[in-house]
Amino acid sequence: MKKSLSVFTLVVLVSGLVALAAKKPAQTSEPMPDDVKAVIQNSCYGCHNSESRNEDGKKEIQFDKLDELSAIKKIHAYKEIGEALEKNEMPPKKFLERFPDKALSEENKKMLMDWSKKEAEALVKEM
Ligand code: HEC
Repeated sequence: MKKSLSVFTLVVLVSGLVALAAKKPAQTSEPMPDDVKAVIQNSCYGCHNSESRNEDGKKEIQFDKLDELSAIKKIHAYKEIGEALEKNEMPPKKFLERFPDKALSEENKKMLMDWSKKEAEALVKEM
């Protein structure tokens, strides 16, 4: 009786831990720095948030839900962000024609690129 009980306890414990590990969202090394947040808020957030009316932008990336992604998806998102910035694809040119003040300065572009690279690398190390 005692033995079967402890086996049962063990099974419950292990499956609980497995479920927890699978569900646990990936942790970033640090919360998003304020300067990064401010630039994203100005140049990206409007199209890339969970309530955006820009369906295509919303589908690609939601900055307010970034923390809820699994590590693998986050790494992918950071990589895409870096690439989009490097190729000057984001913010979209048409949008910048209408809202030139949303353009990224070289300095801010570099800051976002460095940040996304650093976050991706930190996540890779944690795996
Ligand atoms: C005017 C709306 C708008 C703004 C502002 C905007 N995006 Fe996008 N973004 C989109 C749309 C629409 C797509 C999907 C279609 C496409 O790729 O053009 C997209 C796609 C992306 C993708 C997916 C990969 C890719 O290139 O398709 C990334 C990453 C991205 N945006 C990052 C950013 C970042 C970072 C900023 C700010 C510097 C930003 N976006 C600003 C609308 C926007």
